[in-house]
Parts: sequence; structure tokens; C-alpha cells
Amino acid sequence: MPNLIIYGSPNKHSFTMELLEKILLNDLSDYNFFDCFEAKPVPCDGCGYCKENEGCKFTDLNGFFEDFKKAKEVIFAFPVYNGSFPAPLKSLIDRFQFLYYDRFFKNRRPPIEGIREVTLVITAGSKNDPLPLITAQLSPLFTVCGCKLKRAIVLTGTDTVPTLLTKDF
Ligand SMILES: Cc1cc2nc3c(=O)[nH]c(=O)nc-3n(C[C@H](O)[C@H](O)[C@H](O)COP(=O)(O)O)c2cc1C
Repeated sequence: MPNLIIYGSPNKHSFTMELLEKILLNDLSDYNFFDCFEAKPVPCDGCGYCKENEGCKFTDLNGFFEDFKKAKEVIFAFPVYNGSFPAPLKSLIDRFQFLYYDRFFKNRRPPIEGIREVTLVITAGSKNDPLPLITAQLSPLFTVCGCKLKRAIVLTGTDTVPTLLTKDF
């Protein structure tokens, strides 16, 4: 399967899953599904191993990174937590750190082969558009990991009156 869903809600019956299923017309079968809350990635501890060596000293995400490298399309689906990502998704994002060292210390251009088209599927309790905050945080990551943001589908106001917002990049 060449495509990947990175799922960041702690719940399976959730606003985020509902929105994801709506977008994919209830067919997630073409995607590898990485559930951040089930996987609970070990947080990066900034040890510097990846500066001197290949990859990470922690092996829990080896399978994930195999799938990520193969993916042509990546969907990040998650609720906004405190203007940012739920903690296990933040841990996953931090674990891409080895690519920064590959790019900026080992001078690998690109640090990872291929381009992945990204769709963001985001839900938020408040009516405020979370996209500026979220895209600012993801943009450095996307630069090093060969991701190109294509589309964002955001459901705001899940605490009150849900409103759907779609943006193409
Ligand atoms: C710990 C926590 C932090 C949250 N922080 C925010 C926030 O900063 N902004 C916001 O709009 N909603 C926030 N919410 C609300 C969720 O984003 C919202 O309920 C979301 O739709 C839940 O998605 P889910 O049903 O897929 O888990 C927070 C919820 C929790 C549990």
C-alpha cells in the first residue's frame, strides 16, 4: 500500500474519524493506518545519536518509517490540542529529527527520496481556524521529509456548531 494515514485522535469514534471517513468515502483500505495513541512513539530525547549515526537509537518506529518512505500520499488526521498536536503525534513529529541531521549535517539532498502529497484533516472544538498555527509548525518538517501540503480539511466548532473549511495549497 503506497499511502499512509497518520491518525492522532485518542478515540476511534470521534469527530476526526468521522471526517476522515467522509473524505475517503468510508474506504480506508488503500492506506496503511498509523494510530499514534496506539503506537505511543517513544519521545525524542535529543541524545544526538542520529547526528553521528544512521537513523534513531529507538527502533519502535522502524516499521512506520518504512511505510512513510514508500508513501505517495500522506493524510495527517488529528484534533487540535492546545493549539497544537495531541502528545503522541507530537512525539512522532519529533522523531523525524534524524532527517534534519541528514540534511544539514550530512548534507544529503534530499534527505529522503520522493515527494509525498499531504492532506490535513483537522478538527477543533473552538470556532477559530487552527490552520495558521498548525501549518507553521508543520512546515519545517514537510521541508525535510519530502512532503508537499496539497489540501486541508478542517472541522471547527465541534464543541458547539461544527463548520467545515477546505483550503487548497
Ligand atoms: C486536551 C485537549 C486540548 C484541546 N485543545 C483545543 C484547542 O487548543 N483548540 C480547540 O479548538 N480545541 C481544543 N480541544 C478540543 C478538540 O480539538 C475537539 O474536541 C476535537 O474535535 C476532538 O476530536 P476527536 O473527537 O477526533 O478526538 C482540545 C481537547 C482536548 C481533549
